[in-house]
Amino acid sequence: MLVRQGDVGRIVQSTSQLHPAAHPFRCLRPLHRRAAAATANAHSDVASEAVLVTNARVAVQSNPREVYQICEAPCCSTSAASAAQGAPSVDPTVLAALAGLGLTAFALKRIFDTPSRKYDNNVGKEYDAWTEEGVLEYYWGEHIHLGYYSDEELARGYLKKDFKQAKFDFVDEMLKFSGAQNPKTILDVGCGFGGTSRHLAKKFRDASVTGITLSSKQVQRGSQLAEQQRVTNVNFQVMDALSMDFPDNSFDLVWACESGEHMPDKKKYIEEMTRVLKPGGTLVIACWCQREAETHGSAPLSEQEKRELQFLYDEWAHPYFISIQEFERLMKGTGTLQDVSAANWTRNTLASWRHSIWVGVFDPWVVVLKGPRIWYKTAREIVTLERMHQAFAKGLMEYGMMTATKKPLPPAAAAGAAAEGAAAPAAAAAV
Ligand SMILES: C[S@@+](CC[C@H](N)C(=O)[O-])C[C@H]1O[C@@H](n2cnc3c(N)ncnc32)[C@H](O)[C@@H]1O
Repeated sequence: MLVRQGDVGRIVQSTSQLHPAAHPFRCLRPLHRRAAAATANAHSDVASEAVLVTNARVAVQSNPREVYQICEAPCCSTSAASAAQGAPSVDPTVLAALAGLGLTAFALKRIFDTPSRKYDNNVGKEYDAWTEEGVLEYYWGEHIHLGYYSDEELARGYLKKDFKQAKFDFVDEMLKFSGAQNPKTILDVGCGFGGTSRHLAKKFRDASVTGITLSSKQVQRGSQLAEQQRVTNVNFQVMDALSMDFPDNSFDLVWACESGEHMPDKKKYIEEMTRVLKPGGTLVIACWCQREAETHGSAPLSEQEKRELQFLYDEWAHPYFISIQEFERLMKGTGTLQDVSAANWTRNTLASWRHSIWVGVFDPWVVVLKGPRIWYKTAREIVTLERMHQAFAKGLMEYGMMTATKKPLPPAAAAGAAAEGAAAPAAAAAV
C-alpha cells in the first residue's frame, strides 16, 4: 500500500480501521520516488485506496512528497513515529554481532598500541629470549639487520630477491661504504648471533674479529655457528659497548650495525668506539635514525609523529633515536675523528620490512607449531614491522650510514708509541 509522508500516522490508523485483516501495518518503508510511482501504477487499486484515505491532504499539498510502502512482513516496529522518520529496521542479533566486532577491534587496537618491551636496561634479556625462541633466526638467518636491495633489484621486484642474501649484500655494501682496506683487527659492536663477524672473518682470513653483545645466548649461538662453519679467527664476548674493556687504539675497523638504536647514551657510544679505534682506523655505523627536528630550520615533530616514534622506541626496547645529522655532529665532536661522512640508505633498505612479513606468510609453519604465546608475539612483530615500514616510507625515520677515520697520532706521539711497541717484546723476551 502506498501513502504519503505527513499522512502516515493518520493513514495507519484510518486504513487499519478499514482493513484490519489485510493490512497488519507492521512498518512503513520509504521508497525512492520513481520506484514509488512505478509501484503506484502497478497497484493502482491499492494506491487509489491510499489516495482515497489521504486525499484531503493531497489536495492541499502541491509539493512532491515522499511515498511510503506499507510493509506487511513482521519485521520492525509498529511505531508510527519511527516509521515516519524512515528509521531502518535492524535485527537485534546483527546489532549484537556488530557491537561485538566493534569492541574486539577497539580492544585489539588498544593491545597493539600499547608497547610490550619498553626500554628498561632489558636489551640483553630481550635478545636472549629472541635467540632461544629461534623464530628470528629461522626467518632472518644469521644476520639481525636490514637487507640491501639495489636499484635494479627493486625495479625487478624485491620479492624476487632472497631475503637472507639481502643481508649478506648489506654487509658487503657497508664495507664498501666504509672504505676500510684489509683490516687486521675488527670489532663488531652489537654483534647479534655474529653473522657479520663471521662474514668479515671469512673475508679477511688473517684478521682477528671480536663481536660483543649484551646477550649471553647470542654469544653461545654465535660461537656454536663459528665452530660449525670452522671459522677460527672470530670470538664473541658479553660486553657493554658503553664501557668496553679493550685498551685505547686496539682495532683497525670498528663496525656497528644496528646496535646504536639500543644505546641510552649515543654520545658515549661514539666516544667509546672512537677510543678503541686505532689512529688511522675506520669507524662505520649503520643505524635507524629519526628525521632531524627543530634544528637547522627543520620542522618540529608533530604530536602524531611523537606518538608513532614512541611506539617504535618502546616496542623493541629502544630508549630513543637520533638523526643522521646528530650522528655526524657527535662524530665531529669527538675531535679525533676526521673525514666524517653520512648517507641516507632508506631507499635501498626499505623493502626489508615488508619482505620480512612476506617470508613469514610464505612459510608460516615454524610459528604455527609454536603455540599461542609465539602467535601473539609474532602478531605484534608483524604490526611493528609494518609500522617501521610506514615510518621509513614517509620520512619520519631514515636509515643512517655514517663513517669516519681516526686522526693519525701527531709525529712525536707516534714515535713514542712506536718505541713503546718495540720495547714491549724486548721486555717480554728478557722475562
Ligand atoms: C639488531 S641487533 C644487531 C645485529 C648485528 N649487528 C648483526 O650483524 O646481525 C642489536 C645488537 O646490539 C646489541 N647491543 C645493544 N646494546 C648494546 C650494548 N650496550 N652493548 C653491547 N651490545 C649491545 C644487542 O645485544 C644485539 O646483539
